[in-house]
Amino acid sequence: MPRIAYVNGRYVPHADASVHIEDRGFQFADGVYEVVTIVDGRLADADGHLTRLARSLKELSIPWPVKPATLRFVMGEMVRRNRARHALLYIQITRGVAPRDFKFPKNPAPTLVLTCRRTAFQPAATLEKGVSVITMPDIRWLRRDIKSTSLLPQVLGKQKAAEAGAFEGWMVDDQGFVTEGCSSNAWIVTTDGILVTRQPSNEILNGITRLSILDCARDLGIAFEERAFRVDEAYAAREAFISSASTFALPVTRIDGHTIGDGKPGALSLRLRQAYMDHIGSTDPVSAK
Ligand code: PDD
Repeated sequence: MPRIAYVNGRYVPHADASVHIEDRGFQFADGVYEVVTIVDGRLADADGHLTRLARSLKELSIPWPVKPATLRFVMGEMVRRNRARHALLYIQITRGVAPRDFKFPKNPAPTLVLTCRRTAFQPAATLEKGVSVITMPDIRWLRRDIKSTSLLPQVLGKQKAAEAGAFEGWMVDDQGFVTEGCSSNAWIVTTDGILVTRQPSNEILNGITRLSILDCARDLGIAFEERAFRVDEAYAAREAFISSASTFALPVTRIDGHTIGDGKPGALSLRLRQAYMDHIGSTDPVSAK
């Protein structure tokens, strides 16, 4: 797969792609991003990601660097030029280059960068065993609904999880309720068989995968509740999983060392994973092998 990046109107070899040192993304994390999965050469849930990108830009008063339709075209070009089959497309928009000053620049020229990276998604062994998560305090700001590139709490959280041998960190608010994963939404299936995930608000990122999985649950007639759940309820849950563009629905079988259900990926989690894969128009690139 060739590696081609897009920077402000130009397709360039990935190794040569760069932005200015006074880009506000570099200096203030003054930018937003999206990660869109490419499965079998197709962009998954592209419209949903573009809708959320528009919202993030609006919330931060960052102007569109190009028209949304142009960005949609560039996304397709990135798939084509990179000959991407199973890959992650990363889109970042910052408020652009300006002498360092906290206030917005007078005439911002936002920076637009796209990169594409091949990925193998989850190996079959991971899907058979499920993954483990650890919980940690949620130390983020209160506009988590904006997909901002300001991700230090998640960087620290993911590192902590990795050092503990866990795949993901679940962040917990001051009242003891799980907000979400460091880079995913958190789900459980209660002992009564109800699917539960936290309601969208400023306290979580409203995942595009999350929204599609809720649609799948609706179509399948699976009962669900959008509400916060405590760590204890998660320990006692029948099933748990995480969702994101890069993990789809990925079963969780251990939380803080507690075995979830019978310790194997849950039936409902796997059903929703399959429904989501069908929704994005593909068989699972891993299990299809
Ligand atoms: N992260 N919550 C957080 C904090 C996230 O960073 C993400 C995605 C999600 C899931 O959103 P979606 O289903 O739209 O991918 C929830 C991406 C994948 C990342 O930062 O790499």
